[in-house]
Amino acid sequence: MSHVVTLSAKKILDSRGEWTIECTMTSSDGVMATVSVPQGKSRGSFEAVSIEPDKAMGIFKGIIEPALTGGEIALGGQAEIDKKLIALDGTPNKAKLGGNTTLAISLAYARLASHLARVPLWQGLKKIGQNEDAPLAFPRLFVNMVNGGVHAGSGLAFQEYLAIPVANRPSEAIPQVLAVYQKLKAILLERKGAGAINVGDEGGFTPQGEDEEEPFTFMKEAVVQAGFADQIEFGLDAAASQVNLLPHELLSLYTSIKEHFPCIYLEDPYGENDFAHFATVMKHMGHNTLIAGDDLTVTSVARMEEAQKQGSINAMVIKPNQIGTMTETFDAVRKAREFGWRVVVSHRSGETNDDWVSDLACAVNADGFKLGAPARGERITKYNRLLAIEREVT
Ligand code: PGA
Ligand code: ZN
Repeated sequence: MSHVVTLSAKKILDSRGEWTIECTMTSSDGVMATVSVPQGKSRGSFEAVSIEPDKAMGIFKGIIEPALTGGEIALGGQAEIDKKLIALDGTPNKAKLGGNTTLAISLAYARLASHLARVPLWQGLKKIGQNEDAPLAFPRLFVNMVNGGVHAGSGLAFQEYLAIPVANRPSEAIPQVLAVYQKLKAILLERKGAGAINVGDEGGFTPQGEDEEEPFTFMKEAVVQAGFADQIEFGLDAAASQVNLLPHELLSLYTSIKEHFPCIYLEDPYGENDFAHFATVMKHMGHNTLIAGDDLTVTSVARMEEAQKQGSINAMVIKPNQIGTMTETFDAVRKAREFGWRVVVSHRSGETNDDWVSDLACAVNADGFKLGAPARGERITKYNRLLAIEREVT
């Protein structure tokens, strides 16, 4: 049996030029795995605490290395290592070690155990998440085409305007995304000027304006021009905790968007504690729209139970760094399935060039996978990994 011989951490830069954590784990057979963790900007206040990478370096040396060195590495050992991390932390929100620190170790372990088992990461994660029996299915892509809110300086209140191809095979969906993105760029340049084709944190364009529906108008045109009418639907992450509009103003905007565009997905339509207004929007459009919790649910089973009790959502976003370990991430996915919700695995706005989130989206048979526009290396790497996984299985 292989065991952990070294565990080291480094500070690296994320896509915003902010420090984040990279962790390398080495086994007794000399096999290594390195992972890095992303960081959010529109973070829910109930997310696991993210600690300063400088402080994390001290925690690695002083607490984690001594506790985990010598431990066995195997795909079947993930629950054990995550239990140890949770116990070492001892707080409900990873306040002592940091959810970013614990996730770096948890993921490095999963990647190293997969290497040792000679399987690709998605297959290792399938085993760890007890989803081995389900055949691999690719998620639909939820692509952030226009960035607003805190991810851009455009004046748009809503954070993410998403294009969602119906096709889920990466080699079919990705070329559609590329074509729509290029058409959208040309339309924005012509109608809104050169400033509109600058990109925000997730690679989406940043047209200035205060008409919250306008980006969808341009996206609709782009889809038609690209020749994919009826093959691409839309979604919106309002990230409403950061939006200064009254509940009735929000509802009339969502209703109007539904009327004019093929919008099938609405994420965080109200603030992160507003379970009741989520439930209202569910009553209005839950029958034909995915109403998803992100800041509301923060990948936490306790928050999910409250959302279920109040009938707030029928879908949820999964972000491992909101909770801090892979075991807890899989617990949240299982609970979402138990509730009959759709599952959307998501990247973060501050990303690295690591591509594990693509493997995760495939491993849990996610219904959707939120990723950036096809621009900037840290976004592109997620697309390339999906294409590689498709090649592995066909
Ligand atoms: P974040 O944004 O990574 O900045 O939190 C993504 C989201 O809200 O879905
Ligand atoms: Zn969100």
